[in-house]
Amino acid sequence: MSKICFVNGSPRGKNSGSSYLIERTVAFLNDKKTEAVIIYISDLLKSGEYQSAFESIAMMDRIVFAFPLYQDSPPGIMLDFLGKLEAYLLTDNENRKRDSLPQVYAIVNSGFIESRNNRHALKILAHFCRRAGLNWQYGLGIGAGEFMKKQDNLLYLWMKQPVIKALSALCNELENPSRHPQDNVFVSPGMPAFIYNFAANKEWRNRMECKK
Ligand SMILES: Cc1cc2nc3c(=O)[nH]c(=O)nc-3n(C[C@H](O)[C@H](O)[C@H](O)COP(=O)(O)O)c2cc1C
Repeated sequence: MSKICFVNGSPRGKNSGSSYLIERTVAFLNDKKTEAVIIYISDLLKSGEYQSAFESIAMMDRIVFAFPLYQDSPPGIMLDFLGKLEAYLLTDNENRKRDSLPQVYAIVNSGFIESRNNRHALKILAHFCRRAGLNWQYGLGIGAGEFMKKQDNLLYLWMKQPVIKALSALCNELENPSRHPQDNVFVSPGMPAFIYNFAANKEWRNRMECKK
């Protein structure tokens, strides 16, 4: 049975689009072949207790970081977490004795619909893996993350299909990992950008007006 750890790097924690994307991926996994664990960085931040999370991550076969795009980068709480994890992995002797280090994947979602905006954040993750001695595999860059979080109805589920297919392919990869890193995959829900931008602008304006 292989062990997979999902690390949610969103400051919104369980209430995030990243959480939705993790849940969708876990639902595709065959629980007879894989054991999935979910860690929320926002919870670790509150408790200040990182050690047991690092110990568990170091023992995993595969790690999937799921996080939002903040200014073309992972959010600050995740960058801080990665720095601490790197220090732990480079000093933990038991971990360095392992034959095969965990393989790393990422799911990054952005506010804008253009999924390629996520490419720099995925590069940051790949660099982190190289420094920390982990095996970077590939990442999914997902546009219109705020839409993905919306409750599923028939129309929305249909629009979400391109992303759901990419998550299902990631799940296949997690169950039958390839030996070499692959190209990142960029995908957005199936809707014209101008419709998404119109709806998003309307929602942001409403939210700003509510805060006055
Ligand atoms: C501080 C901050 C910075 C952001 N920067 C970007 C950005 O550079 N590009 C983008 O497309 N979206 C940006 N967003 C939007 C988030 O990526 C988007 O809302 C995402 O779906 C949130 O995912 P989550 O629910 O998993 O946290 C930003 C949001 C915040 C709060």
